[in-house]
Amino acid sequence: MVNHNINFFSKPYQDNPYRYYQEMHEQYPLFFHEPTNSYVISSYEDVERALKDPVFSSRNYSWQVEPLNGVTILQMEGKEHTQYRNTVASNFHRQDLVEQTLPLIRKNVASLFDAFKGRKVIDLRKEFTALLPLRVIIDMLGLPEKDLPVFQFWYHAFARFLQNINGSETVIQEGKAAMDAFRDYVDNIVDERTENPGNDLISVLCSAQMEGKRMSKERIVGYCALLLHGGGETTDKAIASLFRNLLLHPDQLALLKQDRSLLDAAITESLRYSPPAHMILRTTNEKVKVSGGEIPENATVVCMLGAANRDRRRFKNPDEFNILRKELDTKTAYTGITNLATFGMGPHVCLGVQLAIMEMQVASDFVLDYMEEFQFADGGDPGEVGIFTRYPDSLPVRFKAREAN
Ligand code: HEM
Repeated sequence: MVNHNINFFSKPYQDNPYRYYQEMHEQYPLFFHEPTNSYVISSYEDVERALKDPVFSSRNYSWQVEPLNGVTILQMEGKEHTQYRNTVASNFHRQDLVEQTLPLIRKNVASLFDAFKGRKVIDLRKEFTALLPLRVIIDMLGLPEKDLPVFQFWYHAFARFLQNINGSETVIQEGKAAMDAFRDYVDNIVDERTENPGNDLISVLCSAQMEGKRMSKERIVGYCALLLHGGGETTDKAIASLFRNLLLHPDQLALLKQDRSLLDAAITESLRYSPPAHMILRTTNEKVKVSGGEIPENATVVCMLGAANRDRRRFKNPDEFNILRKELDTKTAYTGITNLATFGMGPHVCLGVQLAIMEMQVASDFVLDYMEEFQFADGGDPGEVGIFTRYPDSLPVRFKAREAN
């Protein structure tokens, strides 16, 4: 392994991680990152292997997520993982989503858009994308809409806890307090739904039987919290990035406006170019050879999803945002055989891919239908923030609403 100057916490890296991705591919396909005591891999091939080969385990979630949510499917393996994942898997298949969830997405998008009537400038991230996925998952869990403000509060505390790379004690305490409050809140609901199950996801979790046994209450509550933050934050950031990318490339926005059948391609390209999660972790079960050298046993490995999506060996001119690119297959990009690294790969590939895509489709259609013209508001491009997850923190846009027919 060669010496390098890449530090995730440095200002130049935080300002623009993308410019380091080609450097990683060409010069440092494997490097040790001292500040996080981890080994970093970035080529599409190595990332794919780390997510599929059982020599790499996901037990790192025992310190990343377990202190907040308890044991979740993220850290499970083998039969236990399959059983727990399967409890809700069918609720996330496209067909089931079309029947049960599409109306919920449409209802939530429409109600958020109601608040934009008569306005000329909105913050598309803070007033729309940050709220939509949370509302949808709350509806899917069958939790009361009236308590939305409190869910929002807990959800932000969970998100801060999970991205607390500096180890702030305040953030840890706030995250744990939010989880305790969430646990107390859901406790009675779990009892009720075990007695009288409905059509919602909490009822599905309460009724699930694994080898004749029900899931413990602790695991049900942890599963709900995982769905809440796993499904909320990522989708929010993905929709915000899609619109930022389109506004940065007005020629491609114009193409999309002319031909709405390009929407799936635009969504896929944006998920490649600006994935919400740029890094996920794995732990080695034994020493393992990858491009550029060897990783020791029991080491933390950073899988650079953002860099894998910009690997020249996989995508031509990877630093170009191009909704017409040929290599993207919009039919397979969203399934288990995804050709993007965005949703992970292998056994832990995102459970909510189809839901995320559906939310992106409905949200985009609404924006394109409702806003006849739109552009960055006066401050211009708001840029992106973050290293683990990356996204526009706010997205103020000026728009002209289409006249109703
Ligand atoms: C654009 C939006 C999304 C992105 C980019 C995304 C990304 C990911 C990634 C990278 C993983 C793999 C983690 C790993 O292997 O360590 C994952 C797993 C997961 N995602 Fe998503 N996700 C999104 C939306 C959703 C939604 C909407 C839900 C559900 C409400 C969801 C639920 C999950 C769950 C439960 C897992 C764990 C799967 C397992 O361990 O078997 N995600 N997601």
